[in-house]
Amino acid sequence: MSRLIVVSNRVAPIQEGKPAAGGLAIGVLDALKETGGVWFGWSGEIVGEASAPVIEKRGNVTYATVGLTRRDYDQYYRGFSNATLWPTFHYRNDLSRFDREEYAGYARVNAGLAAKLKALIEPDDIIWVHDYHLLPFAQECRALGIKNPIGFFLHIPFPVPEVMRTVPPHEELIQAMCSYDIVGFQTQADQQSFVDYIERGKFGHATDDGMVQGFGRMLKVGAYPIGIYPDAIAKAAEQFSNRKPVKSLRDALRGRKLIMSVDRLDYSKGLAERFQAFERLLLNAPGWHGRVSLVQIAPPTRSDVQTYQRIRQNLEGEAGRINGRFAQLDWTPIQYLNRKYDRNLLMALFRLSQVGYVTPLRDGMNLVAKEYVASQDPADPGALVLSQFAGAADQLPGALIVNPFDLSQMSEALERALSMPLAERQARHADMMAPLRENNLSVWRDSFLSDLRSVATAASMTQKTVKQVAEAKPEARSEVKPDAKSGAKPRPAKVSG
Ligand code: G6P
Repeated sequence: MSRLIVVSNRVAPIQEGKPAAGGLAIGVLDALKETGGVWFGWSGEIVGEASAPVIEKRGNVTYATVGLTRRDYDQYYRGFSNATLWPTFHYRNDLSRFDREEYAGYARVNAGLAAKLKALIEPDDIIWVHDYHLLPFAQECRALGIKNPIGFFLHIPFPVPEVMRTVPPHEELIQAMCSYDIVGFQTQADQQSFVDYIERGKFGHATDDGMVQGFGRMLKVGAYPIGIYPDAIAKAAEQFSNRKPVKSLRDALRGRKLIMSVDRLDYSKGLAERFQAFERLLLNAPGWHGRVSLVQIAPPTRSDVQTYQRIRQNLEGEAGRINGRFAQLDWTPIQYLNRKYDRNLLMALFRLSQVGYVTPLRDGMNLVAKEYVASQDPADPGALVLSQFAGAADQLPGALIVNPFDLSQMSEALERALSMPLAERQARHADMMAPLRENNLSVWRDSFLSDLRSVATAASMTQKTVKQVAEAKPEARSEVKPDAKSGAKPRPAKVSG
């Protein structure tokens, strides 16, 4: 029987109920629990030496996880993935750095993971690879002779070609991405940036049927915006509303309005700008003093990457400065908490609040924005202030969309959200719930996997035809020479870079 094999760097914590940071772990876990399958990736542990995967079964998901050696962790995870690709893909070239040895480590870990996966799979399994840590993974699999369908989904933004080209091995990386049968993005803009890179570099072109001929291979390229299960979230939000921490916050607010924000502590999330826009609200509208609080939950991640240490210091400074400026004996304007909370509890906190404040400078999708909407009580929903640079902005028409670089606009949107009449809040909420239900998490998974299956079937038919033609007519071999590594047609001559 064909199994689904999910491959990602981060695997959700195996113990139920443990908070998982990041949209990937949440989305993939929910999607995989229903279909069942194998989840292969990093255990989160640093080990003395590489060893075979540890296999653990929970429900219908089999977890196969491996440790990383200190050198692999430093070069592949902390280095090239999170100090080069992450900032660049979020348009923060200023924070990006490149180190050849780290890139070599990135390639080495991808090759090593592919070899470990090979031992776990059956010929009819289908493989779904996730995120920027694994751009060259399919190329490594093909080099090992793995013939299964392999799809890739990028959870983060894909930058425009000018920005992509600042990563020194950009061409190698994009060529490697063309070894997948499908490359999926969060938004059409991300998909377009990828196609633009291929076309402007004269590495290939898009065809009318959503396929791309890139570096001599045919692959499908599409936008598959990740969703949530809005009704399950609504239920959890309601059920957890009576939990102690939610009650304590409700009591502590004593009728004040609540603005809620939840993000991993990351410079892409625009937290300093968010605090400053809130400060501007307090400056421009003193009537809100003592009547509104901002709760920012920001669990630290990647704290051994230097840029993350700096953002942490900066935010502590900003929260302290703003509180020092405006706080009263019985009111702290910003409550800034560097810890993780259970996801269901967060949903209940969202439901308690009047405003969801989600203003990343750049974000692939941002599931928090979608979860905020789903958590609301339809009879008295909160309003959402959302950055135009989150993928979610395309799908949440009822949000107040802001430019997170425009502090005045953000502070005006906050004021508007805090004062929005009930009828308008209800109408906006209904406008957002409909598309969230229609494009839920199963739709994301099923449309990606069904495209992967059909592209792979079509590709294997083409390969069979090519083989039959070559066997029937020996002279045809010189015309259609499959590439030794990938089985693809040979790469066309590059005209210019
Ligand atoms: C984002 C990325 C994921 C990553 C998550 C948490 O959501 O898209 O790939 O897993 O952040 O980051 P971490 O480095 O802790 O895995």
